[in-house]
Amino acid sequence: MRKRILFISLLISVNVFSQNTLKLNPEPSTVKINKDIYGHFSEHLGTCIYEGIYVGEDSDIPNIKGYRKDVVEAIKELKVPVLRWPGGCFADTYHWKDGIGPKEDRPSIVNVFWGGVTEDNSFGTHEFLDFCELVGIEPYLSINVGTGTVKEAVEWVEYVTSSNKSPMTDLRKKNGREKPWNVKFWGIGNENWGCGGEMAPDYYANIYRNYSAYIKGDDFQKVICGPSGDDVEWTETILKGLGGKNYLAQGLSMHYYTLPTNDWEGSKGSSIDFGEDMWFSTILNTMKIEDIIKKHLAIMDKYDPNGDIKLIVDEWGTWYDKLPGTKEGFLQQQNTVRDALVAGINLNIFNNHAGRISMANIAQIVNVLQSMILTKGAEMVKTPTYHVFKMYNVHQDANLVPIQLETENYQFEDKSIPALTASASEKNGTISLTITNANPNKPVSINCELGSKSKIINSKIVTGKKITDYNDFGKKEKVTTSNFSVGNIKNGSLKLEIPAHSVILIQLKLNK
Ligand code: AHR
Repeated sequence: MRKRILFISLLISVNVFSQNTLKLNPEPSTVKINKDIYGHFSEHLGTCIYEGIYVGEDSDIPNIKGYRKDVVEAIKELKVPVLRWPGGCFADTYHWKDGIGPKEDRPSIVNVFWGGVTEDNSFGTHEFLDFCELVGIEPYLSINVGTGTVKEAVEWVEYVTSSNKSPMTDLRKKNGREKPWNVKFWGIGNENWGCGGEMAPDYYANIYRNYSAYIKGDDFQKVICGPSGDDVEWTETILKGLGGKNYLAQGLSMHYYTLPTNDWEGSKGSSIDFGEDMWFSTILNTMKIEDIIKKHLAIMDKYDPNGDIKLIVDEWGTWYDKLPGTKEGFLQQQNTVRDALVAGINLNIFNNHAGRISMANIAQIVNVLQSMILTKGAEMVKTPTYHVFKMYNVHQDANLVPIQLETENYQFEDKSIPALTASASEKNGTISLTITNANPNKPVSINCELGSKSKIINSKIVTGKKITDYNDFGKKEKVTTSNFSVGNIKNGSLKLEIPAHSVILIQLKLNK
């Protein structure tokens, strides 16, 4: 069933000569776009946690129990479904007991991966889980496998989720929390092929089995560390390494970052100062994720034909050179119209694979890499990526509507990529259709066959005047959401002209 739906939903072809067309399937599929595809990631890295989310109760910056008020409000508005913490690479150096109890008694550690700064552990398990409760987010905790132990992990699970009497629950109560928190997502290790221990896949698979055997709880979704990009050998070996005990994992993580230059060692490219060459390579590299996803899904189908283990893209987004003048290892970058396109394209791809992708977490929520929010002292801006996520949140928990898209190419020098990407969903009789146009030089006209008896109830656009536009502190937003005017549906068809470098949403109501 799943395969058939995927087949229909992915009939997306590229055609230079024919008219651009988008056909909506008359019926939505039974595949639900899991709201967690719109998930986020927060790490003890740079100013993501401290300054970005948490300023402490004594700060002059308006806060609620130490959490920045402006950030809390912006995140609530975004309808963030799930947030991963405490890393990232940081997670495999993190000992959760350092971050509980009276703050003055908490030991400090050195954040070896991110700038070598001192981590005072003033933001720990209580602060994170209380933040999630305050904002209405599901927490996703990353367990330390690299430098941790099974015992430490089991105690964390008990501390957080148990309602029985035990030494760990007594400790939790002593630290002020009577009731357990509701945590169902547990990642067992992060990037264990790299910063999480430089492990070989078969070695990690065994370690994973050991951890997973003791991490138990109702409805737990345990996530095995999957590949970096297209490392199919890692995926194959760890799934084989489960030895048929697939019940030990409910999710397999995958990380894929978009680098304009594809060069991890040298320059990745600037986040604000770029021309069409870097625009093109960024979009091209973003689009590559779809083939990579397909390769991993094929392996998952082989070892898990029932589809019980879901793919979780728990780190994705753009990664550029750090902004001039910012600290080494803080991964601070700006966010332009280009990032809006990257977000829209990725989310369309994830929606179209919602049959097997159950979660995705963009890196990261505040002040690091492709952020939703940037802060500077008491100031805050919402990035172009924020606006795309907010516009797309209509897809959360909606049913995927299969589409057929025929799109012209966007050509740059001797290379070309599809100009348009799209996805659609249905919820309570409303169809939501999102389309991206990556061509920075011209609008693209498309004929959308929507079926009869429908009327447009909403149409929005996220774009800016220039591809390098971004939202700066203390200035009017240059890249934001505005109304997008469209014509009428005639005989079930709607002609749209998608402006250059833009992301749009059209919502239709089906007349009964
Ligand atoms: O998001 C930054 C880093 O990228 C994470 O800590 C790590 O998991 C990945 O390599």
